[in-house]
Amino acid sequence: MNILGIETSCDETGAAVVKDGLKILSNTVVSSLREHSKYGGVIPEIASRRQMECINACLERSLQDSGLRLKDIDVFSVTSSPGLIGSLLVGISFSKALAFALNKPLIDVDHIKAHLYAPFLSSQPRPKLPAIGLVVSGGHTSLYRIGKFTDFKKLGSTLDDAAGEAFDKVAKILGLGYPGGPLIEKAAKGAASENLSFKGAQLPGKFDFSFSGIKTAVLYYCQKAEKNGNLNKAAVAKAFQESVVSSLVEKSVAACLQYKIGELVIGGGVAANSFLRKRLCEEADKYRIKVYFPPIALCTDNAAMIAGLAYHLFKR
Ligand code: KG4
Ligand code: ZN
Repeated sequence: MNILGIETSCDETGAAVVKDGLKILSNTVVSSLREHSKYGGVIPEIASRRQMECINACLERSLQDSGLRLKDIDVFSVTSSPGLIGSLLVGISFSKALAFALNKPLIDVDHIKAHLYAPFLSSQPRPKLPAIGLVVSGGHTSLYRIGKFTDFKKLGSTLDDAAGEAFDKVAKILGLGYPGGPLIEKAAKGAASENLSFKGAQLPGKFDFSFSGIKTAVLYYCQKAEKNGNLNKAAVAKAFQESVVSSLVEKSVAACLQYKIGELVIGGGVAANSFLRKRLCEEADKYRIKVYFPPIALCTDNAAMIAGLAYHLFKR
């Protein structure tokens, strides 16, 4: 069964064809990211206008790469939420029109759950269910117990900033640019070890996260250090990254242990972070928990994860 996925929740326009929820035949992504960078964050109006301009070409390219034609598509699928309303509207209207014109079903897919499907599309061997899922993106940070692809139970989520959002805000404080995640990661690599650490709220016994306290601690530290003329940006980036990653690692492993589940899948833009990958693998290894990260192209927003999860939703 060939499923076409459309993803337009934020600043990426994606179209992909996935066969039987397993095999990616094509995965096209166009991004308007560069147009937002001078503002230090995504401007919804610019994002939605770019979605409109790109979506048709994106679909055509994806079909061409897959070697299929529109009439070969059995089911259409689209990100229905969460996301920027203007951007979502473009993808939803576009997919509705396609499905209606071709008289084929249209499946609506939750963007966050789809991020957790990415490791199932890419890892060999594939993760098994039940699994614990950690989504770490620019807008969301949550832990799930995935019983089936149609049964996601939320265990906890961030009470304030998402992990990616915290990376972006701290990068802004440090004047590194946008998006902040890769820039913080790069800056942190150049840091010598220093006696610097930032503590966030621990929220013991819960699977919730909180990152705004760390961000504020960084802000106050930087203001003071700048005044004293001894601000070491690389050291701040390193200490901040360590603090966020520790919290993500600790809660994810704790969820696996509490639910007695040995499979841990990760998704979302922050899953591209190499320090998170290393620390999580090291910690999980101690408890024989298997960790599955998607390749970078499937960590950030894409339509293959939408079409992949849609297969299971359609079957149900
Ligand atoms: O999943 P995604 O592409 O979009 C959302 O659905 O939000 O995630 C984007 C987020 C941004 O906040 C970006 O700074 C972060 O992922 N990110 C990273 C890295 N690459 C992207 N964060 C930390 N380290 C990275 N290497
Ligand atoms: Zn996303």
